[in-house]
Amino acid sequence: MSDKKANDTMEKLVSLCKRRGYVFPSSEIYGGLGSCWDYGPLGAELKRNIKTYWWDAMTNRRDDVEGLDAAILMHPQVWVTSGHVANFTDPLIDCKTCKGRFRADKLAECRCPIKPSKTPLECGGELTEARKFNLMFKTFMGPVEDETAVVYMRPETAQGIYVNFLNVKNSSRQKIPFGIAQIGKAFRNEITPGNFIFRTREFEQMEMQFFIHPSEDDKWFEYWREERWKWYQGLGIKMDKLRWHQHGKDELAHYAKAAFDIEYEYPFGWSELEGVHNRTDFDLGRHQEATKKDLRYFDERFTEKFVPYIIETSAGCDRTLLTVLVDGYDEIEVNGEQRVFLRLSPKIAPIKAAIFPLVKKDGMPEYANKVYNDLRRKFKVFYDESGAVGRRYARMDEAGCPYCITIDGDTLKDDTMTLRDRDTMQQSRLKVGEIIAFLDEKVNG
Ligand code: GAP
Repeated sequence: MSDKKANDTMEKLVSLCKRRGYVFPSSEIYGGLGSCWDYGPLGAELKRNIKTYWWDAMTNRRDDVEGLDAAILMHPQVWVTSGHVANFTDPLIDCKTCKGRFRADKLAECRCPIKPSKTPLECGGELTEARKFNLMFKTFMGPVEDETAVVYMRPETAQGIYVNFLNVKNSSRQKIPFGIAQIGKAFRNEITPGNFIFRTREFEQMEMQFFIHPSEDDKWFEYWREERWKWYQGLGIKMDKLRWHQHGKDELAHYAKAAFDIEYEYPFGWSELEGVHNRTDFDLGRHQEATKKDLRYFDERFTEKFVPYIIETSAGCDRTLLTVLVDGYDEIEVNGEQRVFLRLSPKIAPIKAAIFPLVKKDGMPEYANKVYNDLRRKFKVFYDESGAVGRRYARMDEAGCPYCITIDGDTLKDDTMTLRDRDTMQQSRLKVGEIIAFLDEKVNG
């Protein structure tokens, strides 16, 4: 896709998100804050649904993964042990001419702020030598703001899992192989955030760490790669827009023996959506060494004590949300009119169905309200009686709602109503009980 087309697509999406209440610029009435975004009514619901879909797949529907919700602020030594204080850096270059700051390893992808048609390599500005810039946000704990009070905003949720390995194992009585899953905020002082909610400084991760015997790492690595691929398939994402990218030796993080990213083809190109990593015994080994706590596990199958290896699946919640919006965005002509459809899966769509009385008279609003009240006990639904029914359909199509239910004159005679499918635009007549069963299958099936 050309730069111009990619920009247009992203601009249309950003504008749709604002119009329909998915995503707003943070602190907008103050002029916004770089790369920080707020989720509006539909965005908050979509995010919550994505997290529930992940949590169900990764914990509730399995016996071998437990959940955790660890604190964002952790003992600062954790980040020394994990290697983040020393290694979680990007190379930073300053331009003395325009005062711009760029990632040294991405100069060819950056734009000069003064001459946006050129990269910092081409614009003639005077660049400094590259220096290491640590991406962790720091703050102070307690009233004294000195070096001894420094704590970090976690840059990944994973460490909260490692330091709780013993707590979770002992309290849940799980045996290896087993996993711990967590969803939570992470913070990175990215040098070049951007592309809407793709790369931000505050974001949410959905991470799972699976503890295994070292001899079984390849088997479990392949297993989790497959599971995570199927998860995206279940979300209805176009599979030809997804691919695997294997990290070469120069790309591997300091903790990883092997890493594969699931990439999606965004309007701005193929980019990482999730990482699956073989972290070996690096994490538990380092924490064991630093704390002198025995983090080894005795496995009856192997009759030996060992530091478990870890297979990690690490997905971004905001990035998944961006992906389903990009993937679902569609513009087509309907009856001579250019219309926008947001084709979100019913499993995660913020509103599952909209209920309309065809007209605001003859008892239809009362009947429609009763249907609305019946459905809202089980699903997030929306009632709308304003404007022509065609306009109401169009509003819901753009908001990502998969089904519309219309109460008309025949409903009052035989208790059937039309159920209209957003994607096929087909209509069928059903009774309210049948609609509930249908929605249950589509949303929870
Ligand atoms: N614990 C391993 C880890 O954090 P990562 O590849 O650095 O690995 C995992 O991050 C995922 O977190 C990424 O695939 C992406 O979805 C999400 N992510 C990372 N940095 C992000 C950022 N600045 N903004 C939004 N999402 C981000």
